Amino acid sequence: MSVLLTDIGELTTHTDEHGTVHDAALVIEHGRIAWIGSAAKAPTADAREDLGGRAVLPGWVDSHTHLVSMGDRAEEFIDRMAGRPYEAGGIMRTVEATRAATDDELRARAGWLRDEAYRGGTTTIEAKTGYGLDVETEERLARISAEHAGVVTYLGAHVVPAGTDRRDYLDLVTGPMLTAVAPHADYVDVFCEQGAFGVEESREVLEAGRAAGLGLKVHGNQLGESGGVQLAVELGATSVDHCNHLAPADVDALAGSTTVATLLPACDLSTRQPFPPARALLDAGATVAIASNCNPGSSFTTSMAFCVATAVLQQHLTLEEALWAATVGGAKALGRDGTDDAVGRIAVGGRADLHALDAPTARHLAYRPGTPLTHKVWKDGQPR
Ligand code: NIG
Repeated sequence: MSVLLTDIGELTTHTDEHGTVHDAALVIEHGRIAWIGSAAKAPTADAREDLGGRAVLPGWVDSHTHLVSMGDRAEEFIDRMAGRPYEAGGIMRTVEATRAATDDELRARAGWLRDEAYRGGTTTIEAKTGYGLDVETEERLARISAEHAGVVTYLGAHVVPAGTDRRDYLDLVTGPMLTAVAPHADYVDVFCEQGAFGVEESREVLEAGRAAGLGLKVHGNQLGESGGVQLAVELGATSVDHCNHLAPADVDALAGSTTVATLLPACDLSTRQPFPPARALLDAGATVAIASNCNPGSSFTTSMAFCVATAVLQQHLTLEEALWAATVGGAKALGRDGTDDAVGRIAVGGRADLHALDAPTARHLAYRPGTPLTHKVWKDGQPR
C-alpha cells in the first residue's frame, strides 16, 4: 500500500538531491520513501493525506538516553537549582531504584518514556545500561533496552559502586559483565570523569568492549577536562558525549577526527554546567550531534525539540545546524548514516521516519520555544 503525503509547506530532507523543498509531497511505500518532489508533480498513490501546508522533517535521532532506569531525583534537582554542585556520585541513587525494580516495572517505565519521545517526534532512540552495576542487573537493562530502543550501549563503567574495590570492579566490567551484556549491545561506553573512571581505566574498558565486537562511546569532559575527548579521538570512538569543558586542543582533535561531539543541552541546564563551545566545534569543522540524555538524575526529559531550541537560543547554532545535529548528527553518533539502516534523512529508498509540525516551517521549533509543535510522527511509514 502506498501513501501520498502532500501539501507539505516545507520539507527538510538533509539530502544533496532534494535539500529543502517548498510546496512538497512524498510517497511512502513498504515503510520506505518511494518518491520526493513538488506537490504539483506528485504521482498518485493508494491513499492520500493532505498536510495543510505543515512542515515535515526527519524524525529526531536521540543518540544518548538512559531510557531503562527508575526513580525520581527531583529533590536533588531542586538542591542544584539552589546552588549545590552536580556530582557523579548521585548515579547510585538511580542504581538503587533500578536494581529494586522488576523486569515488568522497568518495561513499563521504558515504554512510557519511549512513547513520550515518539509523541515529541523522536523515531530512533539509543538506550544505555549503567544503572545496574552488577552482572544480573546490567544484563536485564541491556535486554530490556533492546526491546525499547534501536541501539543499545553497555555502560557498566558508569561509576564504581560504593564499597567495591576499583580493580575488582574493572575486572567485572571487562569480564563477566561484558560477556553477559555484549549479546544485547551495539556499543560500550565509559564515564571518563573525576569521581568515575580515569583515562587509563577508561581505555581498558573501551578496549575490552572493542575486543567483544562493540563500537565505542565515551562520556567525556562533562565536569572538567577529563581527558575523555582525547581518548575517544585516539581510539576512534563513534562519539564523545557531554564535552562541556574543552581545551582548544580538544576542539582541534575532534575537528580532525570522525568522532562525533554529542551535545546534551537539557543536561547542561539541569546540572548547571557551562554549555560546550558548540560554535567553536562547528566552526572548526567537528561533527556535532544533539541528544536528550533522558535520565532521572541529570536530564529528565525526552524532548529533542527543547534541546534543539536551546542549542539555537543559548548555544548560537543556526536552526539548520541544530536540526542537522538532532537528526543526521545523531545518526552519525550511532553509526547509522550512509548505511543500509540509515536514519536522520528523508531520502528515496530510505526509512520513512517523519515528523510533521503544526507550523509552516521548522524555524518555529526555535521561534516558538516550549510550544508543543508535533502534529504527527511516522516510524517506518507507520503513524505512531
Ligand atoms: O549522562 N554523566 C553520566 N551519566 C549520566 C547521568 C548521571 C546521573 O544519573 O546523575 C549523564 O548525565
